[in-house]
Amino acid sequence: MFKLIKYLLAFSIVFSGLFVAGLQVYADSGAVVNNSCVRCHMALSSSSFVGTKSHSWKGSIHQERGVTCDKCHGGDPEAKTERLAHVGVFSSSNPDSEVFYKNIPKTCGKCHGAEYYKFTQSFHYKKLETTGQGPNCVTCHGSMVTSVLQPDDLANVCERCHNGRIGIFPYVPEKAKAVLLLLQESKALIGADKKLYTSKDDQKLLDSAQANISSARLEWHTFDLDAIVGYLQNAYGSLGKVNQAQKTPVHKKPQSKKK
Ligand code: HEC
Ligand code: HEC
Ligand code: HEC
Ligand code: HEC
Ligand code: HEC
Repeated sequence: MFKLIKYLLAFSIVFSGLFVAGLQVYADSGAVVNNSCVRCHMALSSSSFVGTKSHSWKGSIHQERGVTCDKCHGGDPEAKTERLAHVGVFSSSNPDSEVFYKNIPKTCGKCHGAEYYKFTQSFHYKKLETTGQGPNCVTCHGSMVTSVLQPDDLANVCERCHNGRIGIFPYVPEKAKAVLLLLQESKALIGADKKLYTSKDDQKLLDSAQANISSARLEWHTFDLDAIVGYLQNAYGSLGKVNQAQKTPVHKKPQSKKK
């Protein structure tokens, strides 16, 4: 738990450093500047809770792609006054809020339909629906500083419930960490192979491996660790055939460059 807090703290420090860089990005983008939520909230002091939260959106992929506050919080981004803009915007502790913890998967799912669908198939989603407990999208990705978790951080998230004290599947954090490492390794491996092998036959094998890696990433959202490993094994199967074929490597010594 302490580690998680440290991680969150480190994160907010990193992102407060991006403040100035962030300002320049949306100064260039007229559409975002005309969004009253962004305009007003970016002028709020970082010393207040709401100010700090608002600024944490900066530097995120969502800011980059113009996913503004209203897309997740609701409200009217064309209204000029705070009162009118905030119609429909509630604190996340209010069950009517789009970002009340039970509503979060659906809100994110407006744009991330595939991940949302997979998540609704999971045991954890049912738990979230019935008891209000269980991980949701922001447990693993953060709320506005939307990132993808690293293996150690992921293990910490799972360990909140899966540990020796509580006793439900205490092996989960270690396994989850190992599986995420395997996924990252597969992504690195296919990236390297794509540069080395370019023949048509190799392309087919690489496409098949890529499809399996994409399925593995999506399968995270069901929490089915064994299914994820299954997809990665398929991916490694295809990559292994690329290696054996040794067809028209672009570089002279592919062997020495590969793992
Ligand atoms: C003219 C300025 C202004 C505009 C426009 C504005 N806000 Fe705010 N907003 C504020 C201020 C100031 C607060 C802090 C209010 C407080 O602490 O009572 C706030 C608070 C919030 C909160 C925290 C609510 C809570 O109770 O925890 C959210 C979420 C929020 N705004 C989202 C939005 C969204 C989404 C939009 C656009 C649709 C928007 N705001 C437009 C000034 C503005
Ligand atoms: C990708 C979705 C998303 C975007 C975009 C987004 N937020 Fe949030 N925001 C959330 C979620 C989810 C939470 C609450 C859950 C949490 O923090 O764990 C939250 C929490 C907050 C809070 C803390 C108050 C509360 O109700 O918990 C404020 C203030 C806030 N957001 C303001 C903003 C502002 C201002 C913007 C735009 C500059 C913005 N948000 C953009 C998803 C988003
Ligand atoms: C209005 C649409 C929209 C909403 C709502 C939205 N996102 Fe996104 N999100 C995007 C876009 C666009 C990208 C850029 C990548 C892409 O095209 O998929 C993105 C990227 C991401 C990424 C990839 C980050 C990376 O570093 O690769 C994650 C994770 C993510 N979103 C999680 C969330 C979560 C969690 C929520 C809800 C709190 C959410 N999104 C709500 C549109 C949205
Ligand atoms: C168990 C933790 C966990 C939960 C809960 C979770 N995700 Fe993910 N998510 C991941 C992992 C792990 C990846 C893949 C990371 C990688 O490829 O390195 C991922 C990837 C993503 C991506 C793709 C990022 C990209 O760069 O293409 C999106 C979008 C996303 N998740 C959205 C969501 C949404 C929406 C929810 C809620 C419905 C959600 N996630 C819930 C762990 C989680
Ligand atoms: C908020 C608490 C909570 C968090 C956080 C949590 N889990 Fe769980 N998880 C549970 C509960 C409760 C069960 C069900 C135990 C039972 O069957 O009685 C469960 C069950 C599971 C199962 C077995 C599912 C099945 O179908 O039998 C797996 C696998 C799992 N969790 C993986 C994870 C992973 C991976 C993470 C971290 C990304 C995680 N969990 C985070 C509460 C949590």
